[in-house]
Amino acid sequence: MKFNPFIAFFVFVLLPQQKFVQVVADLDSDKQALLEFANGVPHVKKLNWNLATPVCTSWVGITCNTNRTDVIAVRLPGVGLYGTIPSNTIGKLKALKVLSLRSNNINGSLPSDIPSIPSLQCLFLQHNNLSSKFPVTFSPMLRIVDFSYNSISGTIPNVDLPSVKVLNFSYNNLSGSIPSSFKRFPSSFIGNPLLCGSEPLKPCSESVVSPSPSPLTDFPSPKTGSQNQHATSKNKLGVGSIIAIVVGGLAFVFLLLAVIFVSCLKRKHSGSNGMLKSKISQNDKPNDFGSGVQEAEKNKLFFFEGCSYNFDLEDLLKASAEVLGKGSYGTTYKAALEEGTQVVVKRLKEVAVGKKEFEQQMEVVNRVGRHPNVVPLRAYYYSKDEKLLVYNYMPAGSLFALLHGNRTSDRTPLDWDTRMKIALGTARGIANIHTEGGGKFTHGNIKSSNVLLSDELEACVSDAGLTPLMNAPLTTSRIVGYRAPEVIETRKITQKSDVYSFGVLLLEMLTAKAPLQPSGQDDVVDLPRWVRSVVREEWTAEVFDVELLRFQTFQEEMVQMLQIALTCVAKTPDMRPTMDEAIRMIEDVRQSESKNRTSSEAESNIQTP
Ligand SMILES: *[C@@H]1O[C@H](CO)[C@@H](O)[C@H](O)[C@H]1NC(C)=O
Ligand SMILES: *[C@@H]1O[C@H](CO)[C@@H](O)[C@H](O)[C@H]1NC(C)=O
Ligand SMILES: *[C@@H]1O[C@H](CO)[C@@H](O)[C@H](O)[C@H]1NC(C)=O
Ligand SMILES: *[C@@H]1O[C@H](CO)[C@@H](O)[C@H](O)[C@H]1NC(C)=O
Ligand SMILES: *[C@@H]1O[C@H](CO)[C@@H](O)[C@H](O)[C@H]1NC(C)=O
Repeated sequence: MKFNPFIAFFVFVLLPQQKFVQVVADLDSDKQALLEFANGVPHVKKLNWNLATPVCTSWVGITCNTNRTDVIAVRLPGVGLYGTIPSNTIGKLKALKVLSLRSNNINGSLPSDIPSIPSLQCLFLQHNNLSSKFPVTFSPMLRIVDFSYNSISGTIPNVDLPSVKVLNFSYNNLSGSIPSSFKRFPSSFIGNPLLCGSEPLKPCSESVVSPSPSPLTDFPSPKTGSQNQHATSKNKLGVGSIIAIVVGGLAFVFLLLAVIFVSCLKRKHSGSNGMLKSKISQNDKPNDFGSGVQEAEKNKLFFFEGCSYNFDLEDLLKASAEVLGKGSYGTTYKAALEEGTQVVVKRLKEVAVGKKEFEQQMEVVNRVGRHPNVVPLRAYYYSKDEKLLVYNYMPAGSLFALLHGNRTSDRTPLDWDTRMKIALGTARGIANIHTEGGGKFTHGNIKSSNVLLSDELEACVSDAGLTPLMNAPLTTSRIVGYRAPEVIETRKITQKSDVYSFGVLLLEMLTAKAPLQPSGQDDVVDLPRWVRSVVREEWTAEVFDVELLRFQTFQEEMVQMLQIALTCVAKTPDMRPTMDEAIRMIEDVRQSESKNRTSSEAESNIQTP
């Protein structure tokens, strides 16, 4: 067959281009819709949106999908938007998942094409002045809807919103009774004086349950009533009224001065009281920070899918921050954003890779983090001078703090069941990192300060996937106590060397001895060697944490766990189990024990008549 140049032209030139044109067209229409929005809604802060710059990488507040074919999030909290949003602007972003326009001054009606965007999952509009009716059409994907602190009025239609997890219409002007479909949102309608129904609102009296067709004729209208009063008082302005007005005026001026004074104090205070921005700049050479801010305007926080948070980089930098610790990879802060959100910000130092590689690694870290025993990565920021990672805040702190924290006071010791649960959770977290990362992925920095705990004391492994980003990670003394012997020679971290570190962690949980000294001195306890020497002398009971001595009933389990730990810290990598095998061993300990317990309970039941 003869080579046909026309077909070749079609296949190699036209086809790919057509796809490309399609993609560009999608993004272009999104861009157009956003520009129409920016033109239609006045804003106090200037947005850097313009036709000439790429929407996905340089526009403030915009996030695209990874393929950069669609805008999936618009986050413009507190940028001073005012006026009314026109329809056919934001509503045209057909792949939008997250919209946050909270804490602005938007008024009028919300166009109905916004809550009904089919892909929309999260809608944050709290703290505006919207005066729409309750929206009728909601996207079937919506999970979070926040309209609190607006002026939404009218009655609530009985619509079913099965996918909605969080709904908030508090502090609006809704009226009537709460329909049955909304009874499952108990504290979502507080601060609506005209609304009645389920707790904590007042119960509905007869007259409100069946709204009368024309309330204006049934009830005296408050508006006209007050106008009448106003009119009569204007006609007969007495000396008393004049004095009242003067006194009132003076009081008002005084109040205004007081408010200004207090807000000045407050501003001064928050300045010195550790905004993340100032904390960061303190560590920098002072002149570096200015360029960092400009960078921040150009680049922005990259959010992964999901929308538990609605803030932007500026919010993050303004948040009040507290140093949680200085780790091998940089300093970690707890940042408290307005409206009560807390996140952990990790500021990486000595990142050895370029932007592209960094982004790819972040994708892996995000994938690995979608497991209940790994701390999820929520967002990151990359610029030449600054690399920030944003994680969930884990309220119960680290395993290190729980094991070695203040032991003298009346703290509750970590009981055996909790230790078992943490051991198993940590093992599952590491195993997930080993499998999800494509089989070759390692953690490289397993230690008790990298095991964080949720409110329910569920273990979550943190710092996953950061080792490959770093300069010479193995030279730091901070991981020495957990480091497998072969790593010292080969300088290579493997899954089996992670298993070794996990073994040391188990020994630490059993003995409450820290392989590393808290102050970060080089003074290292070789925990495996110490445990082996004690066990060899048949003093097995001596190795255990004194706080565990109260749990005599679990002695068998403790000895079994000690054996598992010792196989994990075998000197040769081949002798160590894989993480999956370690999980199975730990599960077996629990299962055999619970069988024993139930059988002994059964026995005692038989014995006592
Ligand atoms: C991105 O593109 C790849 C291939 O081009 C495709 O397989 C994938 O589904 C796309 N992802 C999204 C989120 O569009
Ligand atoms: C919205 O606010 C603007 C000024 O901020 C005002 O001109 C306009 O009348 C308001 N619209 C409504 C519907 O309240
Ligand atoms: C909200 O709008 C109403 C008029 O529609 C206005 O009286 C009120 O001052 C506005 N509130 C704020 C906080 O701007
Ligand atoms: C609240 O809604 C009622 C009617 O439902 C209206 O009469 C009243 O003026 C509204 N209040 C405010 C502050 O908008
Ligand atoms: C809604 O917001 C109000 C005010 O911020 C808060 O008190 C209330 O708990 C919230 N309700 C829900 C269900 O989140």
